[in-house]
Amino acid sequence: MSEKLWDSFAVIDGKRISLRPAVVNDRHIVYDWLVHSDCTVSFMGEPTYPDMPLPTWKEFCSDYKLHFFNGSLPEKGISFIIMCDGVPAGHINYNDIDCEKKRTELDIWMSSELYCGHGYGTYALQSLCDYLKNYHNVYEFVIRPSARNKRAIRSYTKAGFVVQKMTTEQQEKKYGPGDCYDSVVMVKELLRE
Ligand SMILES: CC(C)(COP(=O)(O)OP(=O)(O)OC[C@H]1O[C@@H](n2cnc3c(N)ncnc32)[C@H](O)[C@@H]1OP(=O)(O)O)[C@@H](O)C(=O)NCCC(=O)NCCS
Repeated sequence: MSEKLWDSFAVIDGKRISLRPAVVNDRHIVYDWLVHSDCTVSFMGEPTYPDMPLPTWKEFCSDYKLHFFNGSLPEKGISFIIMCDGVPAGHINYNDIDCEKKRTELDIWMSSELYCGHGYGTYALQSLCDYLKNYHNVYEFVIRPSARNKRAIRSYTKAGFVVQKMTTEQQEKKYGPGDCYDSVVMVKELLRE
């Protein structure tokens, strides 16, 4: 993977933010952030998201296979750690790259509420999209929050994603099944060169 990503950083809220590729040792920590952090309740599980149960470790590993954490299959997806002043503050990843459509889907969660609401997640999304355009020729980015997750929708809008007016059937036909009954498709397109 290109060294370039390490150079990509922003100073937000007085803190230096950057992305670094995740390593195998990050896998369990990233899972803990997903299911055991104070953020968890804001996007999955009871009481707001009974339709999105917390994944078991086994289910997580089946979604987030080793290649996300060792960079062995860059066209199939890679995880990154969002670093905030040298501290791991969140996780962001891209999934399979559709080389024909030059498209991929993204996922993101911060490690704790401490790191939410400062612009870090928004910056991480912008940064990953730029990286994917520059180094993997990807121009279309998809993210699928729940309509209940207003904070995520606001952050993604700031990062340049636009809510698509699509029925559930249209979403499923184009992008496959969503994670919940009210999944919203948001798309960001970068200028094709
Ligand atoms: C979603 C997430 C990645 C966004 O990153 P972030 O760094 O917190 O986002 P930002 O601080 O840039 O932006 C959050 C925006 O939401 C707004 N917001 C917060 N709560 C809100 C609510 N209930 N309704 C509407 N907007 C809300 C904030 O005011 C801010 O907007 P502003 O900058 O215009 O004031 C992060 O909050 C997170 O990890 N949340 C928990 C996990 C999650 O929901 N993951 C997404 C799954 S699809």
